[in-house]
Amino acid sequence: MGGRISELQSKIESKVELNPFEAKHYDLMMNIFSLGIYPSFTSRVIDRIEFFDKESIIDFGSGTGHFSCLFHKKARIEKYVGIDLSEIMVKQAEKKCKKYGDAKFIRGDIRKPVPFKEEFTKAFTSFVLHGFVQEERIKITQNAYNALKKGGKFIILDYGEKDVDSAPFYIKFLIRKLECPLAEEFMKTDLKKMLKSVGFTDFTEYSFVNGYIRLEIATK
Ligand SMILES: C[S@@+](CC[C@H](N)C(=O)[O-])C[C@H]1O[C@@H](n2cnc3c(N)ncnc32)[C@H](O)[C@@H]1O
Repeated sequence: MGGRISELQSKIESKVELNPFEAKHYDLMMNIFSLGIYPSFTSRVIDRIEFFDKESIIDFGSGTGHFSCLFHKKARIEKYVGIDLSEIMVKQAEKKCKKYGDAKFIRGDIRKPVPFKEEFTKAFTSFVLHGFVQEERIKITQNAYNALKKGGKFIILDYGEKDVDSAPFYIKFLIRKLECPLAEEFMKTDLKKMLKSVGFTDFTEYSFVNGYIRLEIATK
């Protein structure tokens, strides 16, 4: 019963589970909300990641495949698996990334154990973790840990640890009116502490948009 209630609660509160309209127009919405800078911004973010030869990447909440394409453009990817709950997202990603033969998109729930053990050099998640209650963020982090090879990196792109009360009005509007209620709580969460509790070490953090967005890289 308790499990059912928290499942319902996270469904109500989370906005990372998109409705069909949002899923279909996700890329366009990102471009509009970012005033057209989303593609160049995400490319700049990915430039901070160190890639080696023959990378294998698992992407938790892979969306329309935007980051899959970026990874394939910037590095030699041997294997890429994107997992997403939304069939519409999976279909868009398959279409967008069809020229990358290794790219595979699976419909699945990243809160449930994934069928991969020590297979990937990198686990990635972008603007997904903030949309879950802490208990579920830990489950996703544990999934990333299990899927990574020893020495593999878990790369999280999401909101930074910042006080929304003192944020400029447009950030306040974004976080408090457009984002899910869990986003502000995520911004108060000690991400490194959570990562450490699962077993990750050796953290590198890059900050964007005055720290409101961060790229956190942790090592297994
Ligand atoms: C805000 S979008 C981010 C998409 C992509 N990571 C990006 O940055 O372009 C969140 C994504 O998480 C997916 N998602 C939400 N809940 C999920 C779950 N429980 N399991 C897998 N994917 C989920 C949504 O379908 C959506 O594609």
